[in-house]
Amino acid sequence: MKIEKIYIVGGGLMGAGIAQVAITEGYSVTLNDLSADILEKSRIGIDKMLSKSVQKERMKQEEKDAAMARLTLSDKLDSAASADLVIEAIVEKAELKKTVFTTLSDICREDAILASNTSSISISELSSVVKNPARFVGMHFFSPVPFMKLLEIVGGVSTSEETIAAAKEIGARLGKTCIVSKDSPAFIVNRLLVPMINEAVWLLESGIGSTTDIDAGATCGLNHPMGPLELADMTGIDIAYAALEVIHTETGDPKYRPALLFRKMVNMGWLGRKTGKGFYIYHEDGTKTVNADLL
Ligand code: NAI
Repeated sequence: MKIEKIYIVGGGLMGAGIAQVAITEGYSVTLNDLSADILEKSRIGIDKMLSKSVQKERMKQEEKDAAMARLTLSDKLDSAASADLVIEAIVEKAELKKTVFTTLSDICREDAILASNTSSISISELSSVVKNPARFVGMHFFSPVPFMKLLEIVGGVSTSEETIAAAKEIGARLGKTCIVSKDSPAFIVNRLLVPMINEAVWLLESGIGSTTDIDAGATCGLNHPMGPLELADMTGIDIAYAALEVIHTETGDPKYRPALLFRKMVNMGWLGRKTGKGFYIYHEDGTKTVNADLL
């Protein structure tokens, strides 16, 4: 089956990013979220990003206009009925995702592929609520989607080889390098990354290093483009914490025990860039300073 129509549930950071890349590559995309207001914000964000690409001569104005014309907004899941592929990118909560997939399974065609952008939740578990789990797959994009080259494809116990192959084909058309992971807590990339972020929070909490020294340790000593604390702020403290909890709970291994400060930040709503405050404080003029209230 040729994939032409993509339906994205959740128009936040990831859903809007995936939509932007997909309309740019010629797919027809419907973006769904809980309200028309949220969707309008997503549309404005995508429009701004594509306008920047025009300014930087990465795309022509006509190409941008054609891409934006391929984007439809909808706050009703019913409109997923004609989709070839649905990508879910709502908040990282298994029960909420399962509710969405139960509904989608009734609405969508049986040959449609249902995918989750989850960064840590079991694909087999999510696929348990749909009628055709062979057509269910993890398509884990990275943030910011237009710039990050990777697509991590995750097969659940029932995912067919054809579905994995279709996900790879879509990833290639979106310009991504695809890797395939078995269904294991947090898959490949977050299994590497999230314990490192947690270790950085332990280092901060136990006074072994300051925020800036921990981040500089990774950028200058490991050649990472960004330190783990700054990266956690960019990802969202809640998102990184949720992935760590999945790894900790599913493996039962105490080495993944979340740092106390990590949990505290989630409870305080200090979620990083999106709330203006995380390990750093993000100012309106684009600068950032260390969040001295943390310790
Ligand atoms: P976000 O908080 O920016 O966006 C989530 C969006 O989902 C919000 O706009 C919210 O209104 C919407 N939403 C919530 N419930 C909904 C429902 N029932 N129906 C429709 N829309 C609903 O979150 P973000 O960062 O975009 O993450 C989304 C997913 O992508 C999560 O599963 C996360 O683990 C995953 N992910 C996140 C990455 C990141 O760097 N933030 C990277 C890779 C994956």
